[in-house]
Amino acid sequence: MKDRRVFVTGASSGIGLAAARAFAVAGARVALCARRLEVLREHAAAIGEAAFALKGDVRELRSMEIAADHVKKKWGAPANVVVANAGVVRTGEIARMSAEDWNEVIATNLTGAFNTARAFLPQLLEEPSDLVFMASVASYNAFPTWGAYCASKWGLLGLAKSVAAEVRSRGVRVSIVAPGAVDTEIWPGAKKPPAEKMLKPEDAAAAIVAAVSADRRASYDEVRIMPAAGLL
Ligand SMILES: NC(=O)c1ccc[n+]([C@@H]2O[C@H](COP(=O)([O-])OP(=O)(O)OC[C@H]3O[C@@H](n4cnc5c(N)ncnc54)[C@H](OP(=O)(O)O)[C@@H]3O)[C@@H](O)[C@H]2O)c1
Repeated sequence: MKDRRVFVTGASSGIGLAAARAFAVAGARVALCARRLEVLREHAAAIGEAAFALKGDVRELRSMEIAADHVKKKWGAPANVVVANAGVVRTGEIARMSAEDWNEVIATNLTGAFNTARAFLPQLLEEPSDLVFMASVASYNAFPTWGAYCASKWGLLGLAKSVAAEVRSRGVRVSIVAPGAVDTEIWPGAKKPPAEKMLKPEDAAAAIVAAVSADRRASYDEVRIMPAAGLL
């Protein structure tokens, strides 16, 4: 992967961080993006020279545009892998959910993925590239109290499939990676399944890297990865 220049959102923890590490191990250069810059810097330093940290908020298109300009200048070449991974969870019955919680979930998980794609597609279209969207088992199922999250992740499927239809003939492979329960910080404590029934972030990261490293005649359009011993 030495010619791959990878931009990952939500790289300060969980799946995004595991993906950044896995890409670096495979020989790629990696930009780790999230809001917590100090955390990102520590992780980037631990990964080594191939990695750098970049503060960004996916809720703001301008922030993603600035990130896109920054990585292109830093690498002297366009990003050719983008992983739109940043996400949040707010749970609660729809009948009781605050507008603030609803808006935060949609702004991060759905509009954030749009902002990331919108800002980076001009670079991705410059050469054969990969765009990965982080979906979820909640993109295909409904779970009580997870309505906002499910809405954001079902919406993400529509976004990803629309983008794929627009750009796949122009050299940009679009992959949807949809894990079941992964043991990360995103889970509200009380709702978290037992760790042994969950995937590890590295499992989801491996699916992302597999999609991106597949021969270019093949496209992992939609990858669902579930914990073999779990329900979700
Ligand atoms: N864990 C699961 O069971 C599971 C299953 C299926 C799909 N997913 C999806 O996987 C993705 C990663 O989640 P995770 O499980 O790895 O959780 P996590 O450890 O909480 O990671 C979430 C990441 O998103 C970043 N983030 C949140 N809001 C952001 C914003 N406005 N701008 C930029 N970055 C932002 C966070 O960093 P900062 O706080 O530093 O910004 C963090 O790096 C999410 O899209 C999630 O929906 C998770």
